[in-house]
Amino acid sequence: MEIGIKSGSPEKQRSACVVVGVFEHRKPSFAAEILDTASGGYLADILRRGDMDGKPGASLLLHNVPGLLCERVLLVGLGKEREFRERAYRDAVRDTIKTLAGLGIAEATLYLTELPVRKRDLAWNVEQAVIVAEEAVYRFDRLKSKPEAARKTLRKLTMAVPRRGELVIGEAAAARGTAIAAGMNLAKDLGNLPGNVCTPTYLAEQAKAMAKEMGIGIRVLEGPEIEKLGMGSFLSVAKGSDEPPRFIVLDYRGGGKKDKPVVLVGKGITFDSGGISIKPAAEMDEMKYDMCGAASVLGALRAAAELKLPLNVTGLIPTCENLPSGRANKPGDVVTSMSGQTIEVLNTDAEGRLILCDALTYAERLEPACVVDIATLTGACVIALGHVASGLLANNDALARELLHAGESSHDRCWQLPLWDEYAEQLKSNFADMANIGGRPGGTITAAAFLGKFTGKYDWAHLDIAGTAWKSGKDKGGTGRPVPLLVHFLAARAARTAAG
Ligand code: BES
Ligand code: MN
Ligand code: ZN
Repeated sequence: MEIGIKSGSPEKQRSACVVVGVFEHRKPSFAAEILDTASGGYLADILRRGDMDGKPGASLLLHNVPGLLCERVLLVGLGKEREFRERAYRDAVRDTIKTLAGLGIAEATLYLTELPVRKRDLAWNVEQAVIVAEEAVYRFDRLKSKPEAARKTLRKLTMAVPRRGELVIGEAAAARGTAIAAGMNLAKDLGNLPGNVCTPTYLAEQAKAMAKEMGIGIRVLEGPEIEKLGMGSFLSVAKGSDEPPRFIVLDYRGGGKKDKPVVLVGKGITFDSGGISIKPAAEMDEMKYDMCGAASVLGALRAAAELKLPLNVTGLIPTCENLPSGRANKPGDVVTSMSGQTIEVLNTDAEGRLILCDALTYAERLEPACVVDIATLTGACVIALGHVASGLLANNDALARELLHAGESSHDRCWQLPLWDEYAEQLKSNFADMANIGGRPGGTITAAAFLGKFTGKYDWAHLDIAGTAWKSGKDKGGTGRPVPLLVHFLAARAARTAAG
């Protein structure tokens, strides 16, 4: 979709369709008032007749409105004015795009971007409109033998800013939204691809293609090199499958030569059957999404490169399958991690932490500014926070605050859980340095506490995205989260270091 930014009054737009909002109780928004005046009260008449009540989801298409230069006007319901916040704004943009697509309108000028959203500014409105619009037109049909009936889609979306002087703000915000949306689409595509297509080898090939396109450095380590590094924990999971593992290292260098990198570590289990501790059959197909942490790292790096963020970011992706076989981990097996610490594998389905721990040890050699790992790690996180917030745990409060703030500013929110020493007690093992599970209580926290045994040497945070990375049900699919959060986090860091 082509995105444009424009200033100027709505009655003067020569667009195929000008979109303006109406609040509940038939209250026109500022842009709708202007159209009403220019049309000699045409809109007020329609509102009075009750054809558009302003309720969320309502819309009304008008043709040949007198006094206007555009071909059509689309009125979109905004709901109650005093409840008009982030969610209502995003819903209104989404409804608009779906309505335009349904009507087969190829080009439109959106005035919703001028609406005041509490605590937000024009840049936020524009960025979010781009992200939501790209989300609304996203399709994943490449695995259907025939493309679905050619759908008319919006080709160009122009967004209005109130004054000429704000064009620059609008354009920068649109660029950020576009980069985030592209990163999210990459993450969604990879998540939606099934395990028989998106194997560790395929994931590495896609990482290479993205790195080449964006000018990012990349190295892909294979079995023997991974073994040489001593990643016994990672390899213990990988060896249950015939698909060979990969360890992907991406290097985006937008910062100074000596600037320490932010390291992003993504869980890349391309299919999680549970292994010998096999999962129940129902919904097991969804475990193709168990590489969404890895996908979000690729998406965030892609966006960082597109935006030319002035900082260094290294992405680390351990990727393999978790399957049962004659060579698979068995409950009770003891493995030795790259750190030298031994682990008793009491449940082979707690495999994410087994591959992440070695990547976290590898991160030490990069002398990181900080490390953030992203993983669909625990079902317990879905129980605790549902599908709204990602779980956040950290060994450093300042870093946790940065991520909480990035979640707020991108509307891709996370919520912090405690990581107190007491929780690590649950990981005690009679036979090794630690067990890989800590029982049912506090499952998200004990998983993070396990990772915490490998992150003592740097500032570290963990995002559990089990509930946020994809949607189940009839709209099953990857969400592209937490790419927006990660990009905001990186952008804020870049701005901070650039400011000295
Ligand atoms: N990939 C799963 C976590 C998961 C489960 C994500 C459901 C999304 C939805 C992870 O590898 C896993 O199986 N975790 C176990 C841990 C348990 C064995 C301690 C879980 O959550 O049940
Ligand atoms: Mn598992
Ligand atoms: Zn898993």
